[in-house]
Amino acid sequence: MQKIRKAVIPAAGLGTRVLPASKACPKEMLNIVDKPAIQYIVEEAVAVGITDILIITNRGKSVIEDHFDHSYELETHLRCTGKGSLANEVAAIADMANIHYIRQKETLGLGHAVLCAKTFVGDEPFAVLYGDDVIVGDDPAIGQLCRAYEQYRTGVVGIRKVSDSLVHRYSSLKVQPLDGSVYRVLDMVEKPEKSQKFSNYSILGRCILTPEIFRILEHTLPGVGGELQLTDAMRALAQNGQMVGVDFTGDRYDMGDKLGILKANVEIALHHPKIGADFRRYLIDLVKNIQE
Ligand code: UTP
Repeated sequence: MQKIRKAVIPAAGLGTRVLPASKACPKEMLNIVDKPAIQYIVEEAVAVGITDILIITNRGKSVIEDHFDHSYELETHLRCTGKGSLANEVAAIADMANIHYIRQKETLGLGHAVLCAKTFVGDEPFAVLYGDDVIVGDDPAIGQLCRAYEQYRTGVVGIRKVSDSLVHRYSSLKVQPLDGSVYRVLDMVEKPEKSQKFSNYSILGRCILTPEIFRILEHTLPGVGGELQLTDAMRALAQNGQMVGVDFTGDRYDMGDKLGILKANVEIALHHPKIGADFRRYLIDLVKNIQE
């Protein structure tokens, strides 16, 4: 059976919801405690054996390439000043996986960004990890989806029940329970109006797709917001009985949203091996002085 060894990380969006932070710094590079968001995502992919990662970038995102490259001047400086373990930590970022880049020349939507990966993907199944969706947990979310792919051999989407206010900003799925946390996805709609909503299950940040998606994307018309929507293409798979959803475990943070960025920093800092305990004490003191 073909194992998933390739991943695509779309990171070419404009990040308008987190301006002005994302004006000169891609939102995927915004910090969570001591690492940019996209490093958590690459680490998640590497943890499940993915070896080749294509990051979809655009103008102004070359800082992503710098982050996953060696910085010989910095590494040499750290080694010469007795900070060898920090030098190793920094160097390891460049050696995690084979990281490739392609530019999405116009910001035409997530579906268009995924279509830019057609040549890289070739004829094997691949993972998609949205560049602004950080998911942390003991069992990597993309690994949970890979297991479902191996069992059902169809497209797989990561799903969660979200509140009424969020479902209209994400997507809504028509699902049928299959086995534990796995559901058959029968239909889906991107950013639904109230009358279009199927359920409160939305697609959140992770999918496994087969190359068939490219043929569908090539014939999909622009959808909500005039963008080529990945959901609209995946809908064709769902309606053909070719899609399951995994209600994945893990803490998910939307780095495309100001509140999401704050939650990520607070919650991940609380578990940080070096600063976690101090931060917890700081937070307890702070909370004592906060009134609702
Ligand atoms: P989003 O729709 O959340 O990103 O796409 P956005 O367009 O940057 O959001 P706004 O402007 O705040 O509303 C999810 C992921 O897909 C990427 C984004 O970078 C993000 O990681 N994306 C989106 C692309 O790579 N290309 C696109 O054309 C759109």
